[in-house]
Amino acid sequence: MSFDAVDVIVAKRDGHRLTDAQIDWVVDAYTRGAVAEEQMSALTMAILLNGMDRVEIARWTAAMIASGERLDFSRLSRPTADKHSTGGVGDKITLPLAPLVAVFGVAVPQLSGRGLGHTGGTLDKLESIPGWRAALSNDEMMTQLEGVGAVICQAGSGLAPADRKLYALRDVTGTVESIPMIAASIMSKKIAEGTGALVLDVKVGSGAFMKDVDRARELARTMVELGTDAGVKTVALLTDMSTPLGLTAGNALEVRESVEVLAGGGPDDVVELTVALASEMLAAAGVAGDPAAALADGRAMDAWRRMIAAQGGDPDASLPVARETEQVLAEVDGTVTVLDAYAVGIAAWRLGAGRARKEDPVQAGAGVELHARPGDIVRAGQPLLTLHTDTPERFPRAREALAGAVVVAPTGAPVGVRPLVIDRIEA
Ligand code: URA
Repeated sequence: MSFDAVDVIVAKRDGHRLTDAQIDWVVDAYTRGAVAEEQMSALTMAILLNGMDRVEIARWTAAMIASGERLDFSRLSRPTADKHSTGGVGDKITLPLAPLVAVFGVAVPQLSGRGLGHTGGTLDKLESIPGWRAALSNDEMMTQLEGVGAVICQAGSGLAPADRKLYALRDVTGTVESIPMIAASIMSKKIAEGTGALVLDVKVGSGAFMKDVDRARELARTMVELGTDAGVKTVALLTDMSTPLGLTAGNALEVRESVEVLAGGGPDDVVELTVALASEMLAAAGVAGDPAAALADGRAMDAWRRMIAAQGGDPDASLPVARETEQVLAEVDGTVTVLDAYAVGIAAWRLGAGRARKEDPVQAGAGVELHARPGDIVRAGQPLLTLHTDTPERFPRAREALAGAVVVAPTGAPVGVRPLVIDRIEA
C-alpha cells in the first residue's frame, strides 16, 4: 500500500495514531529514499512532540527490523543473552561481563559501537589491545560464540539500516530525545541481532542520556515492553551515572581496569554492576551460577583471554600509555561530595579519548584517572585526577571542562551518592 508522506506527517502533527500500514510504508519508503529527508524530519518532530502509543512503537520497531537482515542464533548449542547500556562515562562493564557470562555456558553476542561525544565506545576500548579486530563476518561470530562463548564485535551494516539513516537525521534535527524513537532505535538492533535474552542498563544522571529518573524509567519500561512483545526475555536495571563508573575514563585505561576486575580486584562499583548484570543475564537465560565466584577464581579471566585471542588480540601485550600526564590537585582539606560524570566524560573526550566526528581517530592512552570518589576524605595538595594525553595542548580545554566538577566540602557535609542500582524493571 502506498501513502502520501504529507498525510502521514499531518496525521501525527494533529495527534492521531499512525496505522500499521502507514508506519510500514513510511519507514520502508524513507529507507529507499522515496520519502525525503525534510519529510522524515517533520515526521520525527511530530513524533517527538505528540508521542506514539505502545502499538505504534512496536510496529515502528518491526518496520526498522524488516529493513535489514536478522541474525539467527538458534543453531547454537547454548542459550544467548546480551546486555545493552544506554551509555555513560567510564562504562567498561561489557568487557568483564561478556566473558564472565560465557563461563556459565551462555553465549554472549555483544554487537557494539564506537564512542561519539562524551560517552566512550566499547570497540574503541578494545582496539587499544594490540592486534584486536572489531570487524567479524557473521560466520566468524557464530564460530566464536560456539567455541569461546563470547564475542564483542562491530555491528554489521545489515542490521536495521533504517535506524542508521534515521539516527543520523535525528542527530541533526533535535529529535534524538523522543523516548519512542530511542526505544525503537535500540530495540530494533537488539531484536534483529537475534538474542534470546536481553538485559538493559539504563543510565541516569549527568553523564547519561537521561538526566532524570522518571524519563529513564519510562524509556526502560518502553524497551522492556518492546523486547517482551518480540519474544525476547527482557529486563532493565536503572543505574546511576552521576559519577563515572570505576576510576578510569578512556580507552586503554578502561581496559586495564577491566582486567583488574577479571583478576578478582578492581573498583567496588565496577564489580558490583558487573555481577548484578551477569546475574540478570544468567537468570534471563534460565541458567544458574555464581558470577562473583567466577570473577574471584579466574574463570572469567580465562574466558577473556580466549575471547581476545580469538579476535587476533594479544591478552599479554602491554597496553598503550599516553605520552603526557598532568594532575588536578585538591585545593582544600575535606570530603569529596560531588564528582561529576559529564565533566569527566567531556575532559576525557577533549584529551583525545573520544571523537567529534565518526571518522576521527581516538588516542588509545588518553583519558582521566580518578584518585578519589564521593565520600573520600582528601587533603589539600593531594591528587584528585590524572589527565592523560599524547597531545599536551589539550590539557587547558580538559581542565576547563573539569572546573567545578569535583567538589571538596568540609567533612560532615552531605555526600551526593545514590545507590548504583536504582530500580529494576521487567514485564
Ligand atoms: N542509542 C541508539 O542506538 N539509538 C538512540 O536513539 C539513542 C541511543
